[in-house]
Amino acid sequence: MYSDLFSRVYDAFGWNYYPEEFAVLLQRWMEKNQIRAQSMLDIGCGTGVLCSRMHAYGMDAQGMDLSEGMIAMAKEKYPELVFEQGNMVTYESDRQFDLVTSTCDAMNHILESADLQQVMRNVYSYLAPGGYFLFDLLKWEETEECEPVDLGELDGKRLQFQIHRTADGLVRLQIEVFEGRQLVHTEVIRERIYDAERILQMLTEAGFSKVRYTDRLLDEESNAASTWFVIARKEKH
Ligand SMILES: C[S@@+](CC[C@H](N)C(=O)[O-])C[C@H]1O[C@@H](n2cnc3c(N)ncnc32)[C@H](O)[C@@H]1O
Repeated sequence: MYSDLFSRVYDAFGWNYYPEEFAVLLQRWMEKNQIRAQSMLDIGCGTGVLCSRMHAYGMDAQGMDLSEGMIAMAKEKYPELVFEQGNMVTYESDRQFDLVTSTCDAMNHILESADLQQVMRNVYSYLAPGGYFLFDLLKWEETEECEPVDLGELDGKRLQFQIHRTADGLVRLQIEVFEGRQLVHTEVIRERIYDAERILQMLTEAGFSKVRYTDRLLDEESNAASTWFVIARKEKH
């Protein structure tokens, strides 16, 4: 669970670069594939950056996230948009969305496969027929253990980041916040790396069709992304 303190430093330390870049990629992907989605829900939306970019692009975008701190930040920054606090494992919606997204390994934060399977069933229930579910997933090789990496300094606060792999197959991301030389906060995030083929099976079991994963969302993109992108469609019927 992301703490309130960490929610406040998340954007300040430039971690919002990911949803900003993803928004550009998503728009190009929609244009290239002639996907005319009007409404969208971002699950695990963090501080709301992707929703705001897609709103500026002309979509009716809203977000949900488990962390009260993240949702508070999103509402503060983008009061014109709808953000809800909730758990994607139990979250339901009366609305139907043309597009559901989840970025920056939010899905890897779901540690039990049974819970992830439930998320997929939930998404299927609030996705409009013909709609798409697009999310990213961590690649195992991108989560090598590392020495503490300095992420920079802001207002006397400095962030250090470190990755550990645990014996139970989880990845433990440790973020330490220093004021001057003093450690003032440690944030530990645990994530599970899922096998992308297994994820496709889970999506199919949840009712999705045309499920695939790729690390090149746009075919012409020459460099592979550091994550998998998983794309699933709900048939029109
Ligand atoms: C690394 S952040 C990514 C935030 C945002 N998607 C972005 O691209 O900046 C992962 C987010 O997933 C959220 N999250 C984790 N577990 C969740 C759950 N069960 N339901 C909803 N959100 C969850 C966290 O609170 C956090 O905001």
